[in-house]
Amino acid sequence: MGEESFQGMAYQPQEDVYFDDGREMELLHFIYGHPELEKMRGSPQHVLDAIDEFGRTKKYLMNIGEYKAKTITQLIRDEKPRVMVELGGYVGYSAIAFGAALREAGGTQFYSLERNPEFGAVISSLVNLAGLSDIVKVEIGGSSASLKRLHRNGTLKRIDLLFLDHWKPSYTTDLKLCEELRLVGPGSVYAADNAPAVVKPGNPPYLAYVRATVSEKRASFKNVMKADLEHFGDGTKYQYKSREGEEVLEKEAHGNPNLRSSQPSVTAKLFKSTSKARINGIWHIIELNACAGAKKTRAHLGTNAQPFSSSLRHAPEKVPGAGGEFRKIDSTNFPISKTIAATFVTLKPGGLRELHWHPNAEEWLYFHKGQARATVFIGNTAARTFDFSAGDTAAFPDNSGHRDDPNPRNRHYIENTSETEDLVWVEIYKSDRVADIPLTQWLALTPPDLVAQTLKVPIDFVEKLNREKQVLIA
Ligand SMILES: C[S@@+](CC[C@H](N)C(=O)[O-])C[C@H]1O[C@@H](n2cnc3c(N)ncnc32)[C@H](O)[C@@H]1O
Repeated sequence: MGEESFQGMAYQPQEDVYFDDGREMELLHFIYGHPELEKMRGSPQHVLDAIDEFGRTKKYLMNIGEYKAKTITQLIRDEKPRVMVELGGYVGYSAIAFGAALREAGGTQFYSLERNPEFGAVISSLVNLAGLSDIVKVEIGGSSASLKRLHRNGTLKRIDLLFLDHWKPSYTTDLKLCEELRLVGPGSVYAADNAPAVVKPGNPPYLAYVRATVSEKRASFKNVMKADLEHFGDGTKYQYKSREGEEVLEKEAHGNPNLRSSQPSVTAKLFKSTSKARINGIWHIIELNACAGAKKTRAHLGTNAQPFSSSLRHAPEKVPGAGGEFRKIDSTNFPISKTIAATFVTLKPGGLRELHWHPNAEEWLYFHKGQARATVFIGNTAARTFDFSAGDTAAFPDNSGHRDDPNPRNRHYIENTSETEDLVWVEIYKSDRVADIPLTQWLALTPPDLVAQTLKVPIDFVEKLNREKQVLIA
């Protein structure tokens, strides 16, 4: 790769203190007091030109700048992502450039994740001025927490193009988090600003991770390739400390070692020639990689290409009732899990996991937190009640062989008996999927005195049963 001769004009030199000293507000005043303001309304390019003008004539701005923005804009045209996420938004230069390109390429949503709320407000203001509020959404907060939240609430399901431009040590951990949450997968493209070593020191842990072979990733899973702060000088380590406090590295994400990366195929040629340039002696360079899919797991870990790790940090199932949260892991969302299935249930104080039975397997439970009371109906008329607290386990009998039994033997319900604390437990089944049949509605529609007499429960309990189908009752 040779040096590029780029015709754009350079920004003001970078000072010792080059951000968060009031210049971001000065930029807003500059733009809203600009004689060409009216031209900027609804025009991303005019807003970008004004930001560049400020950078050239007033003060340095740490945005991606014209050269690299053009490179990634071309990538967007070629790859046609639907959903993009950027980590680190600053004053919105990249959000405006890429949000506009994404809209032109038929994409649907651009998320700009920014930790500093003042910068987040500047991004929103300029995105709005550029007429991009419909496609660019600004999320204020640390990148890892925002990624987890967007994933948990079901807003973000897949990232087609991930632009990493925030705190360098978090590049690796956030990519790992995205892999683990399955936000990235085959076909996802990663563009990491200033990662290669030519921008000294670049981002050695990120490069090592994203360029590693599957065998290297497997060998170092959880250990060696963790984003090591030692690779960075104090200037990087504490870059954002004074205002936002020390950055915290995401510790829980270990990535998916089976995912391979390669250069994006469509644009490999383009990027050989344009992803690197030296302008006024400063390197402008982007590390580009694409997820090439999962490599087959080793024989003893299974013979197919499915990942052998998953996470419960996905969005809860949409179950009726407002009593808590219900997450499952089985072959429907973790294909390798062919003979074992689990649910992870959180029940609010006073909540009830409604009366149900499992048609396909015995149920084994572990109570992780809180206090529970479970009642199990073991025959037509016999019922037993047990109290549980954190650390207890239980097993509810199998109903196999009785699928057509009109009085299934392992009907049970679980109450949270605490008034203040959530109840959290895990249910495990020897089955490929989680299946349960709710009985509350059926009972609620049966004469209460008959139900109370048959099940030996108080009649006021029966009268409280909801006639609508519920799973986690508040
Ligand atoms: C280099 S600037 C981003 C420039 C921007 N992408 C552009 O080209 O216009 C880095 C930004 O990342 C933000 N940042 C740093 N750590 C972060 C984190 N953990 N999560 C989200 N944003 C972070 C900083 O506040 C700063 O605004």
